[in-house]
Amino acid sequence: MAKILIRGGTVVTMEEEDRSAVIENGEVAVTGPRITHVGPAGTAPAGFKPDKEINAAGMAVLPGLVNAHTHAAMTLFRGYADDLPLMEWLKEKIWPLEAKLTKDDIYWGTLLCGLEMIKSGTTTFADMYFHMNQVAQAVEKIGMRASLSWGLIESPPSSTVGLTLSQRFADRWHGAADNRITVMLGPHAPYTCTPDFLKKVIKLAQKLNVGIHIHLAETGQEIEDIKRDYGTTPVQLMDEIEMFEVPVIAAHCVHLNEEDIAVLAAKKVGVVHNPESNMKLASGIAPVKKMLTAGCLVGLGTDGAASNNNQNMWEEMHSAALLQKVASNDPTALPAYQTLTLATVNGAKVLGLSKEIGLLKKGYKADIILVNLQKPHLYPHHDLFAHLVYAAQGSDVETVIIDGQLIMENKQVLTVDEEEILFETQKRAVRLIKNAK
Ligand code: NI
Repeated sequence: MAKILIRGGTVVTMEEEDRSAVIENGEVAVTGPRITHVGPAGTAPAGFKPDKEINAAGMAVLPGLVNAHTHAAMTLFRGYADDLPLMEWLKEKIWPLEAKLTKDDIYWGTLLCGLEMIKSGTTTFADMYFHMNQVAQAVEKIGMRASLSWGLIESPPSSTVGLTLSQRFADRWHGAADNRITVMLGPHAPYTCTPDFLKKVIKLAQKLNVGIHIHLAETGQEIEDIKRDYGTTPVQLMDEIEMFEVPVIAAHCVHLNEEDIAVLAAKKVGVVHNPESNMKLASGIAPVKKMLTAGCLVGLGTDGAASNNNQNMWEEMHSAALLQKVASNDPTALPAYQTLTLATVNGAKVLGLSKEIGLLKKGYKADIILVNLQKPHLYPHHDLFAHLVYAAQGSDVETVIIDGQLIMENKQVLTVDEEEILFETQKRAVRLIKNAK
């Protein structure tokens, strides 16, 4: 098995709830897919003979970032429709384009997203879209880790076609690509799936022993519609039909009352905060500080590129921290280290992968990024976490290891041909827009 030794960097393990888990001049040893040692310089076991040494002097060594909610192939729509009201944006711009997407478009769009994510230090993502076999193939090819859900909309009413597709997809891909791929079920939202349909989804999730990934309480309109149709809130409706008896990724959770927050905390629902998408679509501000105080599990995601417009988790951390401060009129809200936990260890918990990723720890999967601190915007060196959350850029990521494989070295992605991906996606985007008109 290939052995890698990363030496000389500032190792941020994310093992503690405070900021103490930092090893100056540390080293990380990797054997095959796993981390086999983390410690100060010179402490790797005497018999450890690396095939490859990586000099991390002047760099921070961190667990790979976890983007806990996105729609990867929507990178094809980046910059196509912006600054529009939500329903006009969806009905006139996004849906007509989505109707023209081919399986191959989705493969290439996912590769484009993967390329962007790797280059900005994301090693794992949770995706919900369609033609998911092609998404899985792209993940396998580019070498990332992903939790994949086939997006389900109950159309026509009572249709169970999506459930059959999802089951087939799970049978084929859950645990595939050396366990880098896990599968969840992806009912789109409480306003596109009825409670009866959702009950079938929950039953199937229990049968397959997988989780559920859903959009929840995203807009004020959704709160009004669910109240009108069912007399309750989206969160409490999901609780009533016992969705939270299986592991759930709940994207957005913007509009919540006190009881909703209590339910999310008690049922250990994996909430995903998408600050930039929520801002861009004017959905509102999720009460992240309140949720964290109440003991909710909160991760961080970009959402799709049509509503963000990038897949850069550093920008997402930055926005999340600033947004909580301005929303709560409290500059101490969501401090830097806590924000970094949302993008690493908490994201791993949200995806149900916290025994494998999210920390730099012996026995964990080797998903590791190196961030170059030798940049003007990261000098002088005071507080490392303040720099990482408030000043660092995605482009500061130099090297990425996923599952013990070197995926990017000195900014060169090694698993795919970058130029080919840019060429293919540009060509396909032009065709899509032409055909949708
Ligand atoms: Ni979404």
